[in-house]
Amino acid sequence: MLILGLETSCDETGVALYDTGRGLLAHALFSQVDIHVEYGGVVPELASRDHVRKALPLLRQVLDDAGCSPQDLDGIAYTAGPGLVGALMVGATLAQSLAWAWGIPALGVHHMEGHLLAPMLEEERPEFPFVALLVSGGHTQLVRVDGIGEYRLLGESLDDAAGEAFDKAAKMLGLPYPGGPHIARLAESGDPGRFDFPRPMINRPGLDFSFSGLKTFTLNTVNDCRRDSGLTQQDKCDIARAFEEAVVATLVIKCRRALEQEGLPTLVIAGGVSANRNLRGRLQTALAKIGARVFYPAPEFCTDNGAMIAYAGAQRLHAGQQDTPTATVRPRWPM
Ligand code: KG4
Ligand code: ZN
Repeated sequence: MLILGLETSCDETGVALYDTGRGLLAHALFSQVDIHVEYGGVVPELASRDHVRKALPLLRQVLDDAGCSPQDLDGIAYTAGPGLVGALMVGATLAQSLAWAWGIPALGVHHMEGHLLAPMLEEERPEFPFVALLVSGGHTQLVRVDGIGEYRLLGESLDDAAGEAFDKAAKMLGLPYPGGPHIARLAESGDPGRFDFPRPMINRPGLDFSFSGLKTFTLNTVNDCRRDSGLTQQDKCDIARAFEEAVVATLVIKCRRALEQEGLPTLVIAGGVSANRNLRGRLQTALAKIGARVFYPAPEFCTDNGAMIAYAGAQRLHAGQQDTPTATVRPRWPM
């Protein structure tokens, strides 16, 4: 089956073609980061308008790249939620209109299921069952995955998502949105011994997270530095380092605990924060000690993209699922 995937849930327009026999044939992405950067975050109305502008040109591009025509398609998968309602509507309306015009099924896919299955796009794929750590701008969740659609939530953030905490800490340091990659870059030149940030909730049993206290701690540290000698570039690097260390250490501890609790040897990590190199390295080392392995998507498929939606949709369309005539988007949609 040849499936077209459309991702428009936030500030990235992603389009991809996935074939259940041949794998990923083509994908294209347009990131709106430059449009939103001056506002310090995503402006929903601007996001929707730009998806309208980019979706069809990207669709033409992937069809050309793969040497396919609309007649070759067997279905269209789009992100139905969670996300920004207007942005989701653009992808859903386009997918449903094209599916109707071309006489093929459409299917709304859960954005986080897309992230969760993104490592399946790699040559070396994890086998079910596994534990997945989903870490994005909107979610921090540990999920037990027994198969497609068989998900059990093991723990999640009780307040801010890890990516959101990265973005907020970055803002305090005067860094642009999205802040995760900027914090990671500064952290490389930071002194690991200067500040010791708290590791939230690691001493409590269970698999939930909390990142809002870390945010307050960061703000207090920034203000202390400002008061002492003005916030220098080295202060920023040291704070970024301590902040990243605290988030990474917390995530690593909970992942290890989740694998031990479930008696599973495989961890999958996905979502924008899974692009963090420090997190990847530390997980690899910590899990090797308990004989477990970690699988990641390629860096380009860690953040939002059309390929993960095409893949997730292909599995479900292949199993015979499709939208009902009244299907609509779900800005809030628990997985
Ligand atoms: O999955 P994603 O692209 O969009 C959502 O569905 O939220 O994740 C975006 C998040 C942002 O918060 C961004 O700051 C964070 O992922 N991020 C990172 C890194 N790259 C992206 N956080 C830490 N380190 C990175 N290298
Ligand atoms: Zn995402």
